[in-house]
Amino acid sequence: MSQSKPTILVTGGAGYIGSHAVLALQQAGYGVIVLDNLVYGHRDSTEVLKVELVVGDTCDRVLLDQLFATRDIAAVMHFAAYAYVGESVTDPAKYYRNNVVGTLTLLEAMLAASIDKFVFSSTCATYGVPKTVPIPEEHPQSPINPYGASKLMIERVLTDFAHAYALKSVYFRYFNAAGADPEGRVGEDHTPETHLIPLVLLTALGRRESVSIFGTDYPTPDGTCIRDYIHVTDLAQAHVLGLEYLLNGSETTVFNLGNGNGFSVKEVIDAARHITGCEIKAVECPRRPGDPPVLVGSSDRAKTILGWNPQYTDINQIIAHAWNWHQRQH
Ligand code: UFG
Repeated sequence: MSQSKPTILVTGGAGYIGSHAVLALQQAGYGVIVLDNLVYGHRDSTEVLKVELVVGDTCDRVLLDQLFATRDIAAVMHFAAYAYVGESVTDPAKYYRNNVVGTLTLLEAMLAASIDKFVFSSTCATYGVPKTVPIPEEHPQSPINPYGASKLMIERVLTDFAHAYALKSVYFRYFNAAGADPEGRVGEDHTPETHLIPLVLLTALGRRESVSIFGTDYPTPDGTCIRDYIHVTDLAQAHVLGLEYLLNGSETTVFNLGNGNGFSVKEVIDAARHITGCEIKAVECPRRPGDPPVLVGSSDRAKTILGWNPQYTDINQIIAHAWNWHQRQH
């Protein structure tokens, strides 16, 4: 495909959500360069997508300066971050160094190179325990773990940089990213894996004996936590729209990205049993610290302003695409 559109630097482009964004950018005709330190990312996925990979860290200012000086980069999409909520509680320094210092270093290098467009992965974890659902973007933010706090700090940095340095950014607060590329080119592969849907599917594949249900005494209809699962391909598409919003001269804006529908842990496991045809042993366990009972978002702003139109809103389809990917992997 001949490239007529500008080149975008995608940090964390070898990771789960980043690799799907690379694919969406390529399909929209953009040039893409991936910067990934490969701590959690996969070189394989960049090879499958035939995208240029620079192995390096967002904390490496010398590398960033060199990259921006030698390549014609119009904007940066920033996915590189650590995202294990539990680990952020036990090792907050790791999260503040990578997610805050790394992002600040990247932003300062961008400013020095006069690159003024930035698409940022934030999270619904910045809201903490919500007072109302579905959660609108105006909902107060009070994160209950260092991971969410690290993302909220960068949101504040971006607001201040917009005023002081005219750096324009779109930041997305994701709800629960799930699923995989419908054509199975890339998918979800975390080590260690902590997320519900991949753990359920690994149990279906016989790679794990059972899946734990963390908490059955929440104030929800079946007692288990409710989450808003959003297909990773729909998330990726929103990033392309957010980028184009900035390229068209728009100002810094925040958008939630979710489906507005909540599913309980038990509902997810039942749907996976139906899709896989496997028994999937589930064991009821105590609550996992730091889990809000219900997280469901309102994404009306992204639909209205960006024209975002998610394609894969059915939880069964989201799980089916993830299942397709996991079967190929294992
Ligand atoms: N869960 C289980 N058993 C498991 C794993 C998860 O019951 O083995 C439950 C969790 O307690 C939670 C739900 O399934 O209620 C979803 O858990 P995930 O770990 O899949 O996702 P989280 O909601 O914890 O995390 C996601 C993102 C984070 C983000 C967070 C915001 O992965 O990056 O949403 O709350 F910060």
